[in-house]
Amino acid sequence: MNASKIVTACRHCNAELSPETHRSDRKFCSDRCKQADYRRRRKVKDNPVEALVRGNNADLIREVARLYADTGVTIADVTYGKGAFWRKTPHLNVTGSDLLTVPERPYDFRNLPYHDSSFDIVVLDPPYLVWPGNHMSDDRYRNAETTKGIDYKGIRQLYHDGLKEAARVARRQIWVKCKDTVEGPRQRFLHVHLLQDAEALGLRGRDLFILDATSRMPNNHWSTQKHARKTMSYLWVFDVIS
Ligand SMILES: C[S@@+](CC[C@H](N)C(=O)[O-])C[C@H]1O[C@@H](n2cnc3c(N)ncnc32)[C@H](O)[C@@H]1O
Repeated sequence: MNASKIVTACRHCNAELSPETHRSDRKFCSDRCKQADYRRRRKVKDNPVEALVRGNNADLIREVARLYADTGVTIADVTYGKGAFWRKTPHLNVTGSDLLTVPERPYDFRNLPYHDSSFDIVVLDPPYLVWPGNHMSDDRYRNAETTKGIDYKGIRQLYHDGLKEAARVARRQIWVKCKDTVEGPRQRFLHVHLLQDAEALGLRGRDLFILDATSRMPNNHWSTQKHARKTMSYLWVFDVIS
């Protein structure tokens, strides 16, 4: 996809709306698409989206998308990984990039080659582990190659720089996945810090989703328990204010 080419597209099927055949205020290419979009909206009305989602990341994204993205929306996932987010939303128009896992777009999310406001939504899911290198997700996400030895301050800075770049590239929204963590004896509530950092960048918190993951890390690290186990993660929806 050429990210710099902005076309007017049907809100339902994403087909180009040509000025020769469609009035400039038309939102759909046909009555069929208009009705399909209406049915989708009715579905949300009959089955409201809830902030607490039980399942995996794909279940979470499906619920977020039911409310905030339809087929005509352009999405840049700038930490695409293996694309697990999009396994239950094949109808969405997603352009994935990742420093390590997308060879055709190996972009650093802090310095993207996209034009200003070139996607409706930017999705960000950076590595969030403090001192990665002995965690079961290290191999999966190759943390040693991006964030080895990072402390909480470094994680927060990474998110901040990603948010700043996302705010440049996104027209409407930024979706940010995160997880609170523990650094030594200290609780680090990243989802709270993220709201503060986003607001300082001029973004507005629109929604906060909580994922209650059904697949759990093995519970064999500690012999005593000092705080509640964090089995949930968060997804912020920030509005870009123009
Ligand atoms: C938590 S994983 C994302 C998983 C992904 N959401 C999925 O569904 O598979 C973090 C990803 O960020 C990538 N990454 C780390 N630092 C990066 C950077 N500076 N720029 C772009 N990608 C980066 C890693 O390669 C890794 O794939």
